[in-house]
Amino acid sequence: MCGIVGCILKNNRKAAPILLDSISKLEYRGYDSIGIATIDNNKIFIKKDEGNIETVDNKLDLADMDGDYGIAHVRWATHGDPNKVNSHPHTSQDEKIAVVHNGIIENYVELKEQLENEGYEFKSDTDTEVIPQLISKYMSKGFDLESAVRETITMIEGAYAIAAICTDEKKIVATRKDSPLIVGLGKKGYFVASDSPAILKYAKDIIYPEKDELVILTENEIVIKDEYDNIIEKEIETIDWSPEMAEKEGYDYFMLKEINEQSTAVKNTLTGKKEIEKIVSKIKGNINRIIFVACGTSYHASLTGKYLIETLAGIPTEVILASEFKYSTKTLDDKTLVIFISQSGETADTLKALEAANKTSQTLAIVNVVGSSATRQANHVIYTQAGPEIGVAATKTYLSQLTSIYMFAAILSGNEYLFKDLNKIPKYIDEILEDTTEIELVSKKFKYADDFFFIGRGYAYPIALEGALKLKEITYIHGEGYAAGELKHGPLALIDQNIPVVVVAPPGDNNRKTMSNLEEVKSRGADVFAVGSFDDESLRSKSDDIFCINPDVDEILAPLVYIVPLQLLSYYVAIERKLDPDKPRNLAKCVTVE
Ligand code: G6P
Repeated sequence: MCGIVGCILKNNRKAAPILLDSISKLEYRGYDSIGIATIDNNKIFIKKDEGNIETVDNKLDLADMDGDYGIAHVRWATHGDPNKVNSHPHTSQDEKIAVVHNGIIENYVELKEQLENEGYEFKSDTDTEVIPQLISKYMSKGFDLESAVRETITMIEGAYAIAAICTDEKKIVATRKDSPLIVGLGKKGYFVASDSPAILKYAKDIIYPEKDELVILTENEIVIKDEYDNIIEKEIETIDWSPEMAEKEGYDYFMLKEINEQSTAVKNTLTGKKEIEKIVSKIKGNINRIIFVACGTSYHASLTGKYLIETLAGIPTEVILASEFKYSTKTLDDKTLVIFISQSGETADTLKALEAANKTSQTLAIVNVVGSSATRQANHVIYTQAGPEIGVAATKTYLSQLTSIYMFAAILSGNEYLFKDLNKIPKYIDEILEDTTEIELVSKKFKYADDFFFIGRGYAYPIALEGALKLKEITYIHGEGYAAGELKHGPLALIDQNIPVVVVAPPGDNNRKTMSNLEEVKSRGADVFAVGSFDDESLRSKSDDIFCINPDVDEILAPLVYIVPLQLLSYYVAIERKLDPDKPRNLAKCVTVE
């Protein structure tokens, strides 16, 4: 839940401006502190502090550092408060080694105690500081940086992506276990980073190191060694994302840009039909049960998947939160297909569940980030084509996940007719985005609310859950998604004129029952904002405000369209409340700890 970058540049180019630019593309991974370390003439320079990149840069002028190689870090604090001392890079006691780290060192307390007994003094409260101290300890015994890092990773337990530099050797040594790390080969030099947006501008040829492989970057070459220290040849993959895709391109926030990119994301994801057909042909007939496993927004996409697969393919389907999966593995067998949904492909809870499922069952990952850990561990992979998503709250990756799930369900069940409807989804999304005035007005009205309910039935239920999650994430207003029929079994006691209720009511068999639930909250004084069809006169007359959607979007297709006004509602309420929707407090886009 931090981001790391390292680069070593050719022709004496200064590393700090490029490190600053690259690390700023990873701010979605952490934004409570930033730091950069470079080395010039065997001297280490470090600038770091608490605060977001802009604040710290204004204070310290981060690009103004000498040296043509270095490392950088954005922090999302786990061990120790966000403050200057706890910010990365961390150094060895003799200030000769600097390290950036993403992950958690689980046995750091024991290691720290041991090192303190040996006379090493610590400055910070972080788990990370044991790493440069251990490297320093091994180097003092005569190891070079590379072997000292190798020794160090035999001592540490937990998850890590590490990049280390030292004053005596012109190189960067990096390694990973259970935290993401990519290596970039560019014209200006070589890079390591937590994620590709950091280096898209500088390198498109990427290598994906595996657990405990050592990456050694020098000015002229990249060497990768396996866990036994043999030099290995790794495949180089070229990413087709452009640097502009990771820029705001005139929008105030990434979230708004990404909401507006959703029709393109769906269109692009629909081009992956052939790949899904290949996967289905391999598994069809060999499965009698499906389990979706995911977290957060991806979990909500999975809930829609359950309704869809059971309806279309008649295969019993469950949905389990990734963090709870390990308690549900007893009945897994080789006829079970476990589908992992993850935009990042790096979520620790999801990866742990994938590791467990691989032991007994067939596994499929639906992922947005090419080469991420989930894609390397699952038996089958479907890539969503959303492009890079920077805003912490998932939007376009959610619709792309849903698109892949709909395609998978349609192909698995032989319901090809569904593709005709799916091809129209981008048009329905664009119709919503053409005029958002209604939502902006409603957002002004709701900006002071403390609590919200979102209700829906059947396919509209996961939409309600996702709408509530978006609201919580970026506006800090308590939002609860509820099955419309369940409200009367408890939460109705809370409803009064102070609680807005968002009713998700697409046309279809469930609409009439949802209308009864709307009446229940209305008669308790709730302010109702409905999302429904243009021609639903009854809904229009019973709601205080309504956002209307093309009547051709029935309840089965609704998850792919109806979520858009709810994303916009959260976005505009956040703007009204003067909050930064791209960087919600306490959250990170990619959560690499369990
Ligand atoms: C974090 C993010 C959420 C995301 C969840 C799962 O909590 O803040 O937006 O839905 O992780 O992420 P994944 O990459 O596995 O889809």
